[in-house]
Amino acid sequence: MQVVHTAAELRAALAGRSGTAFVPTMGNLHAGHVSLVELAKQHGQPVVASIFVNPLQFGAGEDFERYPRTLGADCEELAAAGCDVVFAPDVAEMYPVPQTFAVQPPHSLATDLCGAFRPGHFSGVATVVLKLFNLVQPRVAVFGRKDFQQLLVIRELVRQFNLPIDIVSGDTLREADGLAMSSRNAYLGPSERIQAAQLQRELAAIVTAVQAGERDFETLAATAARHLKMAGWRVDYVALRDAATLQAPSPDSTRLVVLGAAWLGQTRLIDNLDFGLDNPA
Ligand code: PAJ
Repeated sequence: MQVVHTAAELRAALAGRSGTAFVPTMGNLHAGHVSLVELAKQHGQPVVASIFVNPLQFGAGEDFERYPRTLGADCEELAAAGCDVVFAPDVAEMYPVPQTFAVQPPHSLATDLCGAFRPGHFSGVATVVLKLFNLVQPRVAVFGRKDFQQLLVIRELVRQFNLPIDIVSGDTLREADGLAMSSRNAYLGPSERIQAAQLQRELAAIVTAVQAGERDFETLAATAARHLKMAGWRVDYVALRDAATLQAPSPDSTRLVVLGAAWLGQTRLIDNLDFGLDNPA
């Protein structure tokens, strides 16, 4: 496995190779990231992973500075997973001049759900992902459904700018108690870590209720949010949406997604479950 830090080295490493499958990450890799590398291997070669903590997608007061940076361990994991090239640029390499051009995702996607609580976040994500796509020039790129709204932003980016890249999505990997794996789980104290699995349990209870025929989506979401608040969470949102559009479910919706974002102490966790409506009302 080659580890490169500059655009020039990356270009040299990929010269004459087409069919790249690309996995962008911010590092501090866990089994969820590794599963995306394994998925990428099924879709193309070489497999390129990027590791870059992108300042553009962090708001003022967010965790950019303290975001865990573990390049050595990450490269060991990637090598073991069969990754071919790791691109790990520094901030000056990615942003040699001030990034005054930006990708502005559609208002409806950018300002909804996580976008409402993290202004500018999805613009920062879309901008860095477009730059990474231009550097790596992949045929396929793999993203996790863990970041469901991000995945839809990227799909729309590719569609609206005619990027010749297939977007493949991977399942969310979870800890034994159901907590979605996340680099931010490392921030949780021992009692928070135990409590953290509640977010997923509340979302799963909504899925069960909807699949049993319950259609009062507002009440289901409000009830889950109330349970979380009672247990000490600060809730950004719990919402049920059409999984294809992220809009409110319509009578024609065939797949839904229940999404939640909430804080335990200083740690913001997100999770979601997407599911088919095989029991239309
Ligand atoms: P990061 O949070 O490092 O995530 C990298 C990829 O791993 C994303 O596609 C994310 O959805 C996926 N992922 C995270 N947790 C997962 C889990 N438990 N199971 C499966 N996949 C999981 O998302 C980003 O980085 C950045 O926003 C990025 C796209 C790299 C742009 O900076």
